[in-house]
Amino acid sequence: MEWGLQNRLSRIIKPNNNRALMLAVDHGYFLGPTEKLENPKKVIAPLLRHCDSLMLTRGVQRTSVDPKSETPMVLRVSGGSSIIGDDLSQEDITVSLEEALRLNASAVAMSIFVGSKYEYQTIVNLGKLVNEAEKYGMPVLAVTAVGKELGKDARYLSLACRVAAEQGAHIVKTYYCDNFEKVVESCPVPIIVAGGKKIPERDALQLTYNAIKAGAVGLDMGRNIWQSEHPVAMIKAARSIIHGNSNVEQAYSLYKKLSANDKSNNPNQKKNKSNNPNQKKK
Ligand code: 5RP
Repeated sequence: MEWGLQNRLSRIIKPNNNRALMLAVDHGYFLGPTEKLENPKKVIAPLLRHCDSLMLTRGVQRTSVDPKSETPMVLRVSGGSSIIGDDLSQEDITVSLEEALRLNASAVAMSIFVGSKYEYQTIVNLGKLVNEAEKYGMPVLAVTAVGKELGKDARYLSLACRVAAEQGAHIVKTYYCDNFEKVVESCPVPIIVAGGKKIPERDALQLTYNAIKAGAVGLDMGRNIWQSEHPVAMIKAARSIIHGNSNVEQAYSLYKKLSANDKSNNPNQKKNKSNNPNQKKK
């Protein structure tokens, strides 16, 4: 593997333990102002130092992340549909590799919609993105999108992950399911697990633990961190599983201990001054 590609990958998947903790804040690219992510700057700031990398769009990176940050950025480069449009699977590449390099991305990310109406378009786009990205030593993270009509079982996710890896994705992000070992076994590149919809904190930590035990290298969690009442406590608890080898009980105890002391670090409870240029300063 070329030096640049290897170097960028090692910013995302830590070489000392082959584990990754990515914080996902890209939801607005099709959901708009997602609940508790209405103000990305306020949400990201206290969490940034606790994740290994941040997955986001260029708009959020430019407006809501301190450029002096040392946290590696995983830049979503696909989009084109919204939650109120006809079909979420109709995505294209919307950000160039030059832009990803200008933004000092450590990887680029896009979704494929296997089994959907736009399967062909999104899979071909992935192949083309890999062609382009490899010219610059840029890793590609493929997200196996799921939806109402797309499955979430091991059979479907094994198929979707393998298709992504066959196109040359360097990392695949998918969803946890029963028999997840089967998904991992048949995917020749590292798998990172998304958190999915908000569930109780203990269940989200159990999902994290199960995914790692089944062979995932890590987590790309969004809603189960920043929709928690205690996002910093939650990311630290997830981190203790991924990087500290905690079990679920240990991680959940840490969450409870940190959340009991959490008076100041919850951006979802604080009424901070707005950083929105469209709102008048009080
Ligand atoms: C949306 C994404 C999200 O980054 C991904 O779903 C992770 O976030 P969450 O843990 O909230 O599911 O790729 O397409």
